[in-house]
Amino acid sequence: MTATLLCFLLAAPVLLVAGSPVHDSNNKTVPLVLWHGMGDSCCNPLSMGAIKKMVEEEIPGIYVLSLMIGKNVVEDTENGFFKDVNEQVSMVCTQLAKDPQLKGGYNAMGFSQGAQFLRAVAQRCPSPPMKNLISVGGQHQGVYGLPRCPGEHSAICDMIRKALNSGAYSDLVQKHLVQAQYWHDPLNDDLYKKHSLFLADINQERGVNETYKKNLQLLEKFVMVKFLQDTVVDPVDSEWFGFLKTGQAKETETLQESVLYKEDRLGLAAMDKAKKLVFLASKGDHLQFTNEWFNANLLPYLR
Ligand SMILES: *[C@@H]1O[C@H](CO)[C@@H](O)[C@H](O)[C@H]1NC(C)=O
Ligand SMILES: *[C@@H]1O[C@H](CO)[C@@H](O)[C@H](O)[C@H]1NC(C)=O
Repeated sequence: MTATLLCFLLAAPVLLVAGSPVHDSNNKTVPLVLWHGMGDSCCNPLSMGAIKKMVEEEIPGIYVLSLMIGKNVVEDTENGFFKDVNEQVSMVCTQLAKDPQLKGGYNAMGFSQGAQFLRAVAQRCPSPPMKNLISVGGQHQGVYGLPRCPGEHSAICDMIRKALNSGAYSDLVQKHLVQAQYWHDPLNDDLYKKHSLFLADINQERGVNETYKKNLQLLEKFVMVKFLQDTVVDPVDSEWFGFLKTGQAKETETLQESVLYKEDRLGLAAMDKAKKLVFLASKGDHLQFTNEWFNANLLPYLR
């Protein structure tokens, strides 16, 4: 209830601004789009609400859009577990294209799964243009394990674990379970490549979609934050686009050691060469950072 109310209060000034045709030509702020993580919502005053407020205080005049997937906070939270990711991405593309404030481009910041979803937006929907993509604890090569659930959703997580164990790559589970859509089983690489509806597609596992490659390279910077004591993401290497080596579940490889990079199937090697990839590490558990860390390390990419 409190969260819903706050969300409304936070959203209200944005609505007023949206109707205004007045544009200050000295206004050089680049809008920011946020996509929350699993178990979270657009407007939780302790998470996305706080980030939005903090950025607005640091960069006066900035337009910050915290994405709500669905009609309200409850739907938004549920959709983070159960709504087909490709549909979510497509909904967001439509919303961004319709937003007059984003016409000139925007920066995007995704938290946890929201980060790989925003990368899909960059790859599939180049208009309006995304300038910087900041991935905060995102899982760009997926996860192979769900050791702990963030927040107070452990009952849902137990259920998700059961579904993933019973067959993450069955069509039914793929369609209805968000986490299955970035489940990456290195022991069943063929199944992953063939049946992963979301991750295998955006990571060019079934072929190279030149559009994805071209669009991703339009980014000015792709910043990836890894949490050094992360107990939620397994393996944590995924936050820097690394993963487990195929065929076993112990040894990991970095992005630079991967086939994806070596064959440059997604343009990441080219981006690395052009100094567009930024790898940041933060002390602490999943999504745990201080305002000081945020301001010193991430804010520079939002100005
Ligand atoms: C700057 O531009 C943004 C986005 O167009 C707008 O929301 C904001 O109100 C503007 N700020 C000022 C101080 O003009
Ligand atoms: C490549 O991606 C674009 C953008 O999403 C899509 O329209 C197109 O159908 C894709 N092509 C293939 C061969 O999947």
